[in-house]
Amino acid sequence: MNDQEQFANRLRKMDRHTGKWARRQGISCYRVYDADLPSHPLVIDRYADWVHLAEYKRDVELDEHEYRTWRFLIRETITEVMDVPASRIVFKERAPQKGDSQYIKQAATGMEIPVQEGGLTFLVNLRDYLDTGLFLDHRQTRAMVRDMALGKRFLNLFAYTGSFTVYAAAGGARSSLTLDLSNTYLEWAQRNLEANGLSSDAHVFQRVDVLEWLRVKPQDQWDLIVMDPPTFSNSKMMRAVLDVQRDHIGLIEACVMRLARGGTLIFSTNHRRFKLEEDRLPGGIQVKNITGQTIPQDFRNKKIHQCWMIRKEG
Ligand SMILES: C[S@@+](CC[C@H](N)C(=O)[O-])C[C@H]1O[C@@H](n2cnc3c(N)ncnc32)[C@H](O)[C@@H]1O
Repeated sequence: MNDQEQFANRLRKMDRHTGKWARRQGISCYRVYDADLPSHPLVIDRYADWVHLAEYKRDVELDEHEYRTWRFLIRETITEVMDVPASRIVFKERAPQKGDSQYIKQAATGMEIPVQEGGLTFLVNLRDYLDTGLFLDHRQTRAMVRDMALGKRFLNLFAYTGSFTVYAAAGGARSSLTLDLSNTYLEWAQRNLEANGLSSDAHVFQRVDVLEWLRVKPQDQWDLIVMDPPTFSNSKMMRAVLDVQRDHIGLIEACVMRLARGGTLIFSTNHRRFKLEEDRLPGGIQVKNITGQTIPQDFRNKKIHQCWMIRKEG
């Protein structure tokens, strides 16, 4: 069997298997293929009746002709195996990104499609950015937030398109504050909340530099905080550069100061080599690594993120 046949077989098997599981769970966006074969360093996700494909740098480079042929064959295989027309396959070439170039626009179609997860609707945009608007690896973390949210004051830091806020609102959060540096993402977050009929004055969105915001003396207290910073960020809109490994202790401390007694911070990072410096953490907290519980079963890459639950003692 050649590489292409192996890829087709693997994709067929995973599409059937994951598709069945996703239908039972009421999920219309999920990972089908997670760089399972070295010959095909790709991540393939279904988003409703679309396919989103992200490519990783391969060990051995192909020449221009080989690469074009390879891409053509991939499209053909996906069309045939996953029964999706070529016009609904979005192929992203994803070289390792530095800084916030990950968030720079790729195209400007403005086309959003609704997808379903956990009985909720999210708007995704498969073409215009490298990321789609919904990070699928945090599906279970979002469900945890919903389960914890009833009656809580919820703070979402580095909120992107506000998917954690939607879950918190759906779980009955008393109020929420959603902060991000990007107006584009904050507007998107508001559309996500509206798409679920959850908008109200209790849910507030603000464009701020979270690093600066956390430096100011706390005014309010929160019962539940999610902080999922980018690995590295040096946006022109920010005063300082963010490096999650270097800065995480200060960021966590600032969150703990804002937590009410008995409150919880969920801290996550997708920095592959990240190490939590536990001995530098402030006192009066309990720390639990919840990475294992928060990686969904459609992700074979168990290092997609690391996540901790940090409780402030009552
Ligand atoms: C990794 S994403 C967060 C993902 C989000 N928690 C989720 O699960 O959907 C990083 C986000 O941080 C935002 N960001 C980067 N630097 C920031 C800063 N200094 N202040 C506020 N937001 C920032 C980006 O605009 C982006 O939306």
